[in-house]
Amino acid sequence: MSVSKNDVFESDAELLKRSPEELEAEGRKLDAQKAGARVGLTSDEIIINGGRPLKGRIEVRGAKNLATKAMVAALLGKTPSVLRNVPNISDVRVVAGLLALHGVLITRNEDQTEWRLDPSNVEVAHQADIDAHAGSSRIPILFCGPLLHRLGEAFIPDLGGCRIGDRPIDFHLDALRNFGAVIEKLPSGISLTAPNGLKGANIELPYPSVGATEQVLLTAVLAEGQTELRNAAIEPEIIDLICILQKMGAIITVEPNRVIFIEGVPELRGYDHRAIFDRNEAASWAAAALATKGDVFVGGVKQEEMMTFLNVFRKVGGDFDVHDDGIRFWHPGGALKPVTIETDVHPGFMTDWQQPLVVALTQAEGTSTIHETVYENRFGFTDALNKMGAEITVYKDGLNGDTRRVMRREFEQAAVITGPTPLTGADIEVPDLRGGFSHLIAALTAEGQSKVTNLGIISRGYENFIEKLRLLGADFVFES
Ligand code: EPZ
Repeated sequence: MSVSKNDVFESDAELLKRSPEELEAEGRKLDAQKAGARVGLTSDEIIINGGRPLKGRIEVRGAKNLATKAMVAALLGKTPSVLRNVPNISDVRVVAGLLALHGVLITRNEDQTEWRLDPSNVEVAHQADIDAHAGSSRIPILFCGPLLHRLGEAFIPDLGGCRIGDRPIDFHLDALRNFGAVIEKLPSGISLTAPNGLKGANIELPYPSVGATEQVLLTAVLAEGQTELRNAAIEPEIIDLICILQKMGAIITVEPNRVIFIEGVPELRGYDHRAIFDRNEAASWAAAALATKGDVFVGGVKQEEMMTFLNVFRKVGGDFDVHDDGIRFWHPGGALKPVTIETDVHPGFMTDWQQPLVVALTQAEGTSTIHETVYENRFGFTDALNKMGAEITVYKDGLNGDTRRVMRREFEQAAVITGPTPLTGADIEVPDLRGGFSHLIAALTAEGQSKVTNLGIISRGYENFIEKLRLLGADFVFES
């Protein structure tokens, strides 16, 4: 199956925003809308009858936060790349669409988990097309270095992504300027050129940003000379990206203390790589097992990358067994225990893990505290949980006088969760990706019926989650 420029992907969320008439005019995705009309549900909504433990086995596929970046890395090769274990999520489709617009020829195997990306004919894309297809993803910013290397110019539209704070791109732009990029602000995005080519640089990030570290890696590998990056992020997905770049011919050394050296090389070839599993999806299903008093085997998950999560899961009172092909997570009975957590960069407790876990903590006996230190606005999802009966107070400026392990940043938030509180079904709307999945968990945990709307956002990062709910015995109505 091949993907061409005329067949760019759109995010499900965007398609779902169109009216049935608009979709009909374009001749696509009508089945879902028509089916929804039959029972009064759109394919962006689900009705969940909660209170049943989730039980069974599901598989997680490659990480959203690696696969999308690996696809961008393919732009750097002289020969085609093959990425395996690709998740069927809309963020992947958005990146594929952008690559196709830039002349990358994409083909997929039958089950669409193996993608071949041929960058032989990379070309400049029209700004209006890029803008129209960038969707709600933040990945476009990572096209800067590869496009500057390949084409000498790049246009990046204003970025989307979850509404969880300011999410600026200053670290990215400062790093690119250090490499010699010239950046011009346009009404609909930024335009970049590199009149004197890109040269290795000494860069210290103000914070170990995942995206800015990836930006530096994707730019430095083909820049002339050596790059030293200090205060780099070292998330497992970044190490996996480094493995990909090394397969392509890059020379990258990861030193202690968040220092990464990159020796620029004149050219890179394509890679063949199996994407690392999705830690965020794994933690989400684990939390769902705990909150619903269930027992879920999450296939494809490895222990090492989950260690920090597993410690917290155990402290809260969950149990798990590590197998060669995955991890079984279950609620062993008895009361869940409260915890205090600070979200942090790796190897700390990920910011993306707190939302699903908070639902389980509403069922713990006592007071839990979550300090969110990575993003400044990541507790919006708790409003819906409170509507369902939870007792969660959000402190927008954090808690004073608290002894904390993580260094204070200029902002922080804290959520104090008092439990156990029975949850009851309600109509709730998905606010963002991880918060949205926590809403699903809350609806599955709650007694009674919930209607969860704005589901399209969840398909940005959770592959086939409806099918997985079915496999785990959830009781719901969904019309696709
Ligand atoms: C990545 O976002 C992930 N997204 C996020 O996952 C994840 O939560 C985050 O890393 C932290 O692990 C993708 O990989 C696509 P950052 P990213 O740069 O790279 C500030 C999910 O749900 N910052 O590490 O955008 C920023 O505002 C998503 O899957 C600047 O100030 O995160 C934040 O406070 C959500 N200036 C902090 O750094 C910059 O130029 C960390 O952001 C860049 C970042």
